[in-house]
Amino acid sequence: MKSEQRVKISGTGGYLPARRVTNDDLAAELDTSHDWIVSHTGICARHIMAADESPCDMAERAARVALERAGVAAADLGYIIVATTTQDYSGFPSTACLLQGRLGATQAGALDISAACTGFVYSLEVARGLMHCDRGARPTLVVGVEAMSRIVDWKDRNTCVLFGDGAGAAVLELTSEAGRGILASYLRAEGSNPDTLYCGGGLRTQPPVTEARLAHMNGRVVFGFAVKAMAEVVLHFLETLQLSPEQVSFVVPHQANIRILQAAQKRLPIAPEKFFMNIAEVANTSAASIPLALAELDRSGRLRAGDLVITTGFGAGLTYGGNAILW
Ligand code: UT7
Repeated sequence: MKSEQRVKISGTGGYLPARRVTNDDLAAELDTSHDWIVSHTGICARHIMAADESPCDMAERAARVALERAGVAAADLGYIIVATTTQDYSGFPSTACLLQGRLGATQAGALDISAACTGFVYSLEVARGLMHCDRGARPTLVVGVEAMSRIVDWKDRNTCVLFGDGAGAAVLELTSEAGRGILASYLRAEGSNPDTLYCGGGLRTQPPVTEARLAHMNGRVVFGFAVKAMAEVVLHFLETLQLSPEQVSFVVPHQANIRILQAAQKRLPIAPEKFFMNIAEVANTSAASIPLALAELDRSGRLRAGDLVITTGFGAGLTYGGNAILW
């Protein structure tokens, strides 16, 4: 690798399952309403994986689109990284290995990354590190995929209305082009209160595992953390990269709750219209959220080469972080 080279995103892809579940559909089964959900979260619908689909199926759909848009053959990939907490197998093999086999990426190393909703942000930085370490690095495929519908308690209105399924993918390549590529990432964790947002099951002994593999959340605590964390990430980049707010083309936040995004926006000097949002249609897809949003923004034609895009996310762990990318 030459010192002036950066890692750029050369192709994106997204996949949402065909089954679209509206708030009214949920209200038919649960003590909730369209008005409550939309006013408290900004969510109108979510997409749910079919009974015969798997997370790897969704990841493959998004990956193939990203590879095609990048003009990269799967056989040329050097790494496949999958950010997910809802794997096809519980534990192993990783979803990245399954995807490697599906795509026929015969030269690729493959690994999953577990950082919940911040998983894609973490994965981009891990990929960047690998590509900078590995002289002459091949392209890397990074996918965020999540089947949240399989781990939410559909009787718990506090959590189930928030989530959806999907996958987003990005192909990364080294570039020497001036004004393109990932400038920096910011990765943080606050792991001292894991019960704020966790998935049951697992092998821990303290406290002993008694519950099923279902998501649990203290919504208000997560809300407060999220607003602070999402704003901190963007402010970090403005300060450390010495950027003016006008230089930021888009902020692509984790689509968790529109009220979180609006509260974070108010803490930042960046114009509200620069915050990309698709939560109304996709809900919170955890690790797939940011790459799905990037793929949609990319496809919309609103992004120009060299635009500065800042991602910012948070999730279970608790984790948070972002990436500053010259598109
Ligand atoms: O990727 C990270 C994932 N997590 C998040 O982003 C979650 C962050 N937190 C949130 O988004 C919000 O805290 C929620 C949307 C989960 C909840 O909104 P809230 O304004 O904090 O509501 P609340 O928890 O204070 O609850 C207010 C009321 C309660 O009723 P009572 O106790 O006041 O009678 C809840 O039982 O709203 C009730 N409620 C609902 N009502 C209708 C909670 N969920 C629902 C619902 N439909 N789906």
